[in-house]
Amino acid sequence: MDSIEESLFKLDNIMIKYISALKVLETQLQIINDDFKYIKKYNPIEHIKARIKSADSIVKKLDKNNLDFTLENVEKYINDIVGVRIICGFESDVFDLIDIIRNSNIIHILKEKDYINNPKKSGYRSYHLVVEVPVELINEKVMVKAEIQIRTMAMDLWASLDHKLNYKNEYRTETISNRLRKISDELNRVDNEMLELLTLEEEQKLINGRDD
Ligand code: GTP
Ligand code: MG
Repeated sequence: MDSIEESLFKLDNIMIKYISALKVLETQLQIINDDFKYIKKYNPIEHIKARIKSADSIVKKLDKNNLDFTLENVEKYINDIVGVRIICGFESDVFDLIDIIRNSNIIHILKEKDYINNPKKSGYRSYHLVVEVPVELINEKVMVKAEIQIRTMAMDLWASLDHKLNYKNEYRTETISNRLRKISDELNRVDNEMLELLTLEEEQKLINGRDD
């Protein structure tokens, strides 16, 4: 087996695949975003964030899962070296976007996790896709895995603040966990109410025959 130094060196060498995959994915999502805006007549995607997982985090994640740091394990078990987060306005935008991705010939879905209809115990809500995208290098044509997280602004507000709280506090008390779950429920209510208003507005537009 390679030494850690050798594996790190090889990891450096395969990073071009992941950096390229991120470019392919970001470009395709940008195209979808532009077209989606046109179809919806409002901006369904608030913003898109992308990142490449650091070597340090890759090593830590393998370690957490009791896996040796080998290139094979990196490629097989780490799905989120390329990570993209898409923040939408309404919950309906999230599911419309997922349908659009399902129909894509460029972004191929491998796995879906619906933490919107089945929130995590923590209160976390989001839709996760493990996908692969084609990357053409000079001497290699490969499909590269990436993770896409799609959620509303309300879901993102919760996840971002939860992450910040967790960041400093490794041991969370039951009281804090319960309060966080309650906040998640409240934000879910806000999402549902906003969606109801969107439906009402759209019905109103149809009645008035307006299209602006
Ligand atoms: P990881 O090893 O964390 O990647 O777990 P996994 O491979 O089982 O994937 P999972 O479906 O749990 O999603 C992992 C990602 O979702 C994390 O990297 C976070 O970005 C996000 N996530 C999952 N649960 C929570 C949560 O309770 N709070 C927050 N803030 N984010 C979460
Ligand atoms: Mg992850």
